[in-house]
Amino acid sequence: MMPQKLKLGMLVMLVVLQACKTEVKPKTEITWEEMNASKAEAKEAFNDAKYGMFIHWGLYAIPGGIWKGKKMEELKGPKVAEWIQFGAEIPRDEYAQLAKEFNPTAFDADAIAKLAKDAGMKYVVITSKHHDGFAMYDSEVSTYDIIDASPYPKDIVQELYDACKKHGLDFGLYYSHNIDWMDGNDCGYSELLATGLPMNEKAKRKAGANTWDPSPNTFSEYLEEKAYPQVREILTKFPDMTTLWYDMGHYVTPGQSEKFYKIAYDLQPNLLVNSRVGNGLGDFDIPGDNKIPDDHLSITKPWQTVGTTNNSWGYKSYDNDWKSVKELIFWLTEIVSKGGNYMLNIGPKATGEVPEESVNNLLEVGKWLDVNGEAIYGTRKWKVNHEGPTKIDMSGTQAREKQGFKVEFTAQDFWFTQKEGEDKIYVIAMEYPNDKILIQSLNTGNVGDVKSVVMLGQEKELVWKQTDQGLEVIIGDQRTNPNGYALRIDF
Ligand code: GLC
Repeated sequence: MMPQKLKLGMLVMLVVLQACKTEVKPKTEITWEEMNASKAEAKEAFNDAKYGMFIHWGLYAIPGGIWKGKKMEELKGPKVAEWIQFGAEIPRDEYAQLAKEFNPTAFDADAIAKLAKDAGMKYVVITSKHHDGFAMYDSEVSTYDIIDASPYPKDIVQELYDACKKHGLDFGLYYSHNIDWMDGNDCGYSELLATGLPMNEKAKRKAGANTWDPSPNTFSEYLEEKAYPQVREILTKFPDMTTLWYDMGHYVTPGQSEKFYKIAYDLQPNLLVNSRVGNGLGDFDIPGDNKIPDDHLSITKPWQTVGTTNNSWGYKSYDNDWKSVKELIFWLTEIVSKGGNYMLNIGPKATGEVPEESVNNLLEVGKWLDVNGEAIYGTRKWKVNHEGPTKIDMSGTQAREKQGFKVEFTAQDFWFTQKEGEDKIYVIAMEYPNDKILIQSLNTGNVGDVKSVVMLGQEKELVWKQTDQGLEVIIGDQRTNPNGYALRIDF
């Protein structure tokens, strides 16, 4: 028989427990809306950061876009070099042989972090595992990783993580959760089909699925034994990340997307998950690769455009179509003026070196940001994003590659940003006029009375006049950077 005192004690405990239950929801019952809403501060920080570095690096850097004499353009699928295993339908065992050759002795994590810093970038996101399934960090979950399968002795992600911390950069990871050509069977196509859930166009045509040499396990086994554990692993190994970048979530069910989201929330509650987790569960949106949205005003979540420095994410040995400094400044400015965040990619070579052209161009953008960063970081979109004759459509990686970038900006093209709550508007221009400019959007009818006009990098008042036609400013021969200037307008 239980002593009376103990019985009473247990009863009290039960009542207390019951009361707690109604007040504090156990973590497992928290809804996506609640988790997402709890990240308000992280979203503001994401919107302030504006510019970061993406790094695509893996075994695919060895072939660099050419397999047995065939270029990506002669193979199936996307033309970006990290898709070579898919394009050439390389059997898993054969592709895995690349790991034995992967020895990037020229990799210098500190130099890459310093490059990001000097380029004016605020954060770095690297591929911890891309579609090929190879982990660039020391994984306990799989031996298909940098430490177990390659001769290179260092954990690449760890090195970069430490270097970013040292240089005061935020850190995030890319993880291909759905597509895994090594261990993901058919990447979930047949399991999704069996559920009867609706499929998007890409899923219907088996985009990215391993159809040539699928692993013998099921997709569910892959999720349970590799993907979920590896995501837990990276979130544990690399604390205080700002973003987790999933990709190609075409075959994951709502329940699976929820699980990928929740694992991240449980381990790093302030981290933002991108929309490619699938099924609408991202904290921020990705309009598309190398795509700037036309309809930015309809986007309600924070958003990020990811861009390449040439036309490939992974190192592509023969792609020399490097975006010029001016083009990169345009992408950044256009995106920021629409309220977005720009993550610009580098694709290191198999040796670990970063292609020189991308380094040089990034550093030039950094110089422009040294002068004009105030018009970019911490700003928000204004009611007008751009005025002027130049119209540019940025609709994706292949479109950019085909069209090229032959745009001539004029001295009448202006982009706008604002600092909220500070009565300040910034005007960014890519070209200098011969003498004066007229900014039509800043006419007296459209905005309040202008109080002062200053060119960033020169803290002195310019000569200006505001009328119902616009704001006229004398620029004369003042030059703060060869790639353009920015004005701070106070109201
Ligand atoms: C695509 C590609 C991938 C690349 C990514 C970058 O989804 O599959 O190779 O990593 O875009 O945004």
